[in-house]
Amino acid sequence: MPENHSDGGIDVSRETGADYDDIPLDTPIARAARAAMSVRGHGEEDWPRPRSCRVISVANQKGGVGKTTTTVNIAVSLAMHGNRVLVVDLDPQGNASTALGMERGGNSRSIYHCLVEDEELRDLAQPVPGIDGLWCVPATIDLAGAEIELVSLVARESRLKRAFAAYDTDELDYILIDCPPSLGLLTVNAMVACQEVLIPIQCEYYALEGLGQLLRNVDLVKSHLNPALAISTIVLTMYDGRTRLASQVADEVRQHFGDLVLKTLVPRSVRVSEAPSYGQSVMTYDPGSTGAVAYMEASREIAYRAETGTGL
Ligand SMILES: Nc1ncnc2c1ncn2[C@@H]1O[C@H](COP(=O)(O)OP(=O)(O)OP(=O)(O)O)[C@@H](O)[C@H]1O
Ligand SMILES: [Mg+2]
Repeated sequence: MPENHSDGGIDVSRETGADYDDIPLDTPIARAARAAMSVRGHGEEDWPRPRSCRVISVANQKGGVGKTTTTVNIAVSLAMHGNRVLVVDLDPQGNASTALGMERGGNSRSIYHCLVEDEELRDLAQPVPGIDGLWCVPATIDLAGAEIELVSLVARESRLKRAFAAYDTDELDYILIDCPPSLGLLTVNAMVACQEVLIPIQCEYYALEGLGQLLRNVDLVKSHLNPALAISTIVLTMYDGRTRLASQVADEVRQHFGDLVLKTLVPRSVRVSEAPSYGQSVMTYDPGSTGAVAYMEASREIAYRAETGTGL
């Protein structure tokens, strides 16, 4: 892993991609000011809720690009602003489940039991402690075998879609699916079950490598299994404003994907990487940190895009 740069650095405005130049220093007062701004959400209480449940897969077969971090923090932000959100952890590593403080003991039921043993999603979803309107269907290590077990099952690509159909998704505004770093059957299940794909791209060398394969897979699923599928959102993650490389990668991604790329750049921030070890999102762990503020802005963009239809 590349080294994390601390939030304790002097000029966080560089980390944030200049969105918060008005609060340039990472002093306790600046932090408190950002916390106040983030809590108030610039004066808004709730964000718009979509007319029907938006199902979004967070996918990139490249490992460590920020899929889980993005899923968790966007889910928490949306829930904090009046949306009802379900996170489905589809990665056997279970990182999203850990970050959301899910119980995952030896006999825990998980998304595995839904995919392979037809258990109801409703029975598997657990409320996320401390966040109203947020639930998570956790992953357990059983899921590691699911790629193979699914192969012999009927309608193996659409098990998750079927589970969503059985769940009354009118009760939800968003379902966010945290995909594993592969393009296997689990990711295919996510893409068959959703309408939108959100791709986090890490602002570093090789960022675009392998993306062609992901885009081809999306096209394949769209043409054969899910005509409603579209790449709706690209999020630039772990942006380090001190390097020219990061801004070059960001420019290149924007040239390629245009308006699909969120305006908000998520900065590299040590607070973001610390939060999961406390079973928390950075939104609750340190709401005033640059990472939390950026994820809140990114989530706001996503929520308002639902209204305007941009990128959908
Ligand atoms: N903005 C950020 N600043 C600092 N560290 C970050 C940031 N985003 C993610 N990280 C850290 O980078 C690592 C990889 O992030 P994450 O787990 O979200 O990626 P992933 O794409 O889900 O990985 P995998 O492919 O293994 O599932 C984690 O240790 C995470 O805490
Ligand atoms: Mg992950």
